[in-house]
Amino acid sequence: MSKLTQSAAWQALNAHYAIVKTQHMRQIFQDDPERAGKFSLQFDDLFFDFSKNRINAETIQLLVALAEQAGLPAYIEQMFTGVKINSTEQRAALHTALRNRSAQAVYVDGKDVMPDIRRVLGLMRRFSDAVRNGQHVGHTGKAIRDIVNIGIGGSDLGPLMVCEALKSYASPQLNVHFVSNIDSAHLSETLKKLDAQTTLFIVSSKTFTTQETLTNARSARAWLIEQLGDEQSVAKHFAAVSTNLEATSKFGINPENVFEFWDWVGGRYSLWSAIGLPIALYVGMDKFEELLDGAHAMDNHFRSAPLDKNIPVLMGLLGIWYGNFFGVGSNAVFPYCQYLHRFPAYLQQLDMESNGKGTDREGNAVDYDTGITVWGEPGTNGQHAFYQLIHQGTRMIPADFLAPLHSQAPLGEHHAILLANCFAQTEALMVGKTSAEARAELVAQGMQGVALEALLPHKVFAGNKPTNTLLFDKLDAHTLGKLIALYEHKVFVQSVMWNINPFDQWGVELGKQLAGKILPELLNNTPAVTPHDASTSGLIQYYQKNH
Ligand code: F6P
Repeated sequence: MSKLTQSAAWQALNAHYAIVKTQHMRQIFQDDPERAGKFSLQFDDLFFDFSKNRINAETIQLLVALAEQAGLPAYIEQMFTGVKINSTEQRAALHTALRNRSAQAVYVDGKDVMPDIRRVLGLMRRFSDAVRNGQHVGHTGKAIRDIVNIGIGGSDLGPLMVCEALKSYASPQLNVHFVSNIDSAHLSETLKKLDAQTTLFIVSSKTFTTQETLTNARSARAWLIEQLGDEQSVAKHFAAVSTNLEATSKFGINPENVFEFWDWVGGRYSLWSAIGLPIALYVGMDKFEELLDGAHAMDNHFRSAPLDKNIPVLMGLLGIWYGNFFGVGSNAVFPYCQYLHRFPAYLQQLDMESNGKGTDREGNAVDYDTGITVWGEPGTNGQHAFYQLIHQGTRMIPADFLAPLHSQAPLGEHHAILLANCFAQTEALMVGKTSAEARAELVAQGMQGVALEALLPHKVFAGNKPTNTLLFDKLDAHTLGKLIALYEHKVFVQSVMWNINPFDQWGVELGKQLAGKILPELLNNTPAVTPHDASTSGLIQYYQKNH
């Protein structure tokens, strides 16, 4: 057994679980009229209701004891102060420095990183202003109307999610597009709609070696040159964001249009860096800085609030409670906000690429579950698709419900209906419907006898399904910054509990290596150079024969 599962705090939670697992939240709410107030927190405009969880005051005490045993406060300080907590890559994880809006210095290897961060923010402002006000024009003198971000993973999902979320603040003169997939359909379908004279491509890649991004960028470059009939046009129509300035220059991108960031920014934590350039272009640099301000406010909360009053800490610990003690395998996120429709997809990379690790910091295989499947869709759409599984399926799926009090696109009663549904779902998931209640309903509908008895068991809802509700005033850049930082820190908290490094991603490498070996076999129609297993060989041969 590992030190963690043997530890006093873990064992205490195990014993506590044996008691709590049999309790129904409906009863707990009835027993304690103060419960909602006891298990909710306000931070700025963010209201966090975690009362509909399978917990009591002792659960929180025990989870906080686990966090203290794991040294969480010290780890938080290490992250904020630039200690190289990404141990397998010998790097700091300083996304918090990117949104450090205070005058405080942040050091990596004895060097304050803040001047460089501010310098690049200044360059982003100059460039985004110039594009937005028509000073930076295309090769033929026309203003830029379409921005195409070419990137994948963290160089795509974050900026894409934010641009969608802040769409209501965007410049009406600019459209933003995101091309990530190596499937040529993604680029081709995007280019079909565009005029090369008014299009700006941003090639976003931390490493500038990612096959998908570089292939898409080369194809986009060829399209531009073909459309405008001049290789010189690349200078005005291509920008790049990367840590690898040598590679951007080799690619032929005008150094004036290159925006730098640094290896201590993880890909999935990079939207706060120059990777956020499409955001700055689309909604303006002021809004981008409001996003940073919001994240900084959450950083301060995370760094200073006591553990039992700390929203990211509590969210992380609740995830541990369900994942490691109740044995749940997935966590749903339901934004009751159409503008947040890409938030679950963004969270998938953040959470699953960070905490999908089976080896602890000391190199030992863990003997407890880590990571979790994150999924979700905006409400109310999900209600009419998959909520059935959460209401009456056999698996417990804790869910986060997020909703703004005010709509960005108010229309009649739409928003009240939206929120009525949001609140109703968490209520239904918690209280369920007893056999007596279901029977009374069926009787009221005129049912009786054998027909009633046959239908009755299907009408019963067990309830007792845990949810968190996060309400906020409206989805502006500041609040969005807070929400994203909240989930980043939640993921970090869990990594500390599990003693894993959330900032590397070695697991994605093997597939890349093997794809590199298979590609020439597909391109040249040659027999396998490297031996494959029988299934993979069969698939390659099937392609070669039938392509
Ligand atoms: O392969 C995974 C990954 O390295 C992610 O971690 C990263 O966000 C993505 O690829 C894109 O990487 P890059 O920004 O270097 O192109």
